[in-house]
Amino acid sequence: MKVLILAGGKGTRLWPLSRELMPKQFIRLFDNRSLFQHAVLRALKLSSPEEIFVVTNREYRFRVLDDLAELGVSLPEENLLLEPEGKNTLPAICWGMREVQGRWGEAKVAVLPSDHLIRADDNFLRAFAAAEELAEEYLVTFGVKPSRSHAGYGYIKPGKSLGSGFKVEEFKEKPDESRAAEYVARGYYWNSGMYVFGSKVFFRELEDLAPEVWQAFAETSDVAEAYARTAEVSVEYKLMEKSGRVAVVPLETYWNDLGSFDAVYEALPKDEEGNAVVVKGTEADCLLYGARGNLVISERLTAVVGVEDLVIIDTGDALLVAPRRDAQEVKKVYAELARRK
Ligand code: GDD
Ligand code: MG
Repeated sequence: MKVLILAGGKGTRLWPLSRELMPKQFIRLFDNRSLFQHAVLRALKLSSPEEIFVVTNREYRFRVLDDLAELGVSLPEENLLLEPEGKNTLPAICWGMREVQGRWGEAKVAVLPSDHLIRADDNFLRAFAAAEELAEEYLVTFGVKPSRSHAGYGYIKPGKSLGSGFKVEEFKEKPDESRAAEYVARGYYWNSGMYVFGSKVFFRELEDLAPEVWQAFAETSDVAEAYARTAEVSVEYKLMEKSGRVAVVPLETYWNDLGSFDAVYEALPKDEEGNAVVVKGTEADCLLYGARGNLVISERLTAVVGVEDLVIIDTGDALLVAPRRDAQEVKKVYAELARRK
């Protein structure tokens, strides 16, 4: 199966770890590897380097190349698709699908985000094998059993059985909190953000549901022109919500979208007092006394005394302190900083 890794997002919910020039996919918190590197390792379980593509913004070119070199993975140069501007996921996927089709004709393509932590175990591989079959007729997505309601995800209502998956009756991207809670109660899945698309089905649905994007890419081979002609559109709003040909395969493996510091805390190993600590750099260390349930990420000597359930993020040039469960409010900080620029 061919693979398309999406690595051009600007994710800002993990400020000050994530920045405009250091988006979430390049942050290193797990095994000293970036999330993008973890995505590449997942891709290698599904495919070989010649068949793996990375679509990213041209500003991130060197980050991508450095991360690949560090892993000892070399992709053909033409498999690195450098976008002139970020137009969200649909144009990125469309460009990648076009490249694949140009080289191999009809093919199945796994589309992988690069800002998650996902265990690529046997269940993961089985789900992809099932999706590859269903992709003959459907746009295939992977559903995760929700553990709570969360407004930041897509929600999927499974319908009739298709053997190893289900036909999708409804796909709702990012509903509000109360709708999300209702969907969880009614047995919807979370959308994992990963897909398997067959080029035939993909381009047929694209032409039908997003003709302006389809035309932009069909009518010119000049990528900059195609991007200039395309609006910012995500694959979820344009295709997955609207298509009547969507299938979902349940994904039964560890999946964490690291969408907030609370999710990062959940994914990291903890000490006996429930503190998760990541220190970076030779001078860095963290001393904890009577501290419980904190997430500490720091690049210098840090002491945490007698506090509970905090997020303390020190990147040397910026410091964030917040209650762990409300840490998503950091988006307000980021918005204010963007306004001041
Ligand atoms: N190349 C490129 N260009 N990649 C992009 C762009 C772009 O303009 N915008 C986003 N991406 C990449 C991101 O880097 C990420 O790896 C992936 O595409 C998904 O984009 P996000 O912006 O992170 O999407 P999301 O988290 O809001 O929502 C998606 O993920 C949820 C699960 O975490 C959706 O798929 C939801 O339905 C899903 O539930
Ligand atoms: Mg995301």
